[in-house]
Amino acid sequence: MAWVYHLDLTEEQIERARIALLPGDPARVAKIAQTAPLQESRFVAQHREFTTWIGYANACPVLITSTGIGGPSTAIAIEELALLGVRTFIRVGTTGGLQPAINVGDLVITTGAVRQDGASLDYAPLAYPAVAHYKIVQVLEQAARELKIPHHIGITCSTATFYPGQERQDSQYIPRHLHGITEEWQRLKVLNYEMEAATILTICSALGLRGGCLAGVVDRHGDTHISPEGLRLGEQNAIQVATGAAALLVSEAA
Ligand code: URA
Repeated sequence: MAWVYHLDLTEEQIERARIALLPGDPARVAKIAQTAPLQESRFVAQHREFTTWIGYANACPVLITSTGIGGPSTAIAIEELALLGVRTFIRVGTTGGLQPAINVGDLVITTGAVRQDGASLDYAPLAYPAVAHYKIVQVLEQAARELKIPHHIGITCSTATFYPGQERQDSQYIPRHLHGITEEWQRLKVLNYEMEAATILTICSALGLRGGCLAGVVDRHGDTHISPEGLRLGEQNAIQVATGAAALLVSEAA
């Protein structure tokens, strides 16, 4: 029976789940697991930043595992869940909007990610694209449309750091090579900043897995703080759509 170290999970515990929802925050795991259409959810394991719950959509198991913040711990979560048999990975994250039409509470569905994450370089050279699986983009869009939640579909920039990498005004120090980088991404129609999509999408493509990324907008570039209301709205909308999309995937497989 396979057991994976960082997640402290066995193959038996995941009950042949093939889909995993991946928030960064361990505290978001139970919230996702307890959101309809997921049912009968329960806690499974916790070790370091990795908390895992299981829920059921149409009686099929869906795992929810936190990745922690950033590429390195996210890569560990994907590797270990893949070892246990998981084949579809959907990030359920939060994000900062970069375009004027993107508001707090909206969702961004990533089609491809700028690979400023660092970790994905250990899987493929930078010329290799970080692209979402088309089917995952499709079900995320369908779920957002059905739930009437405003959403934007396009390119995400994943950074290795929250402060200088996103050129935040409240950074202690921004090195010269990052000055003006946000304006460049904005001109290139990049929708949002976050820290995990590029790692997930690169690893999934490289290993023949399905990857996707959905994030709720909790601030806009230039904001120096994230408000509790913005966080709650962005998170809640992302959770609704992610659980809806998981149920759509499960019912198509049945
Ligand atoms: N997560 C990020 O990485 N950046 C933001 O601005 C908000 C959430």
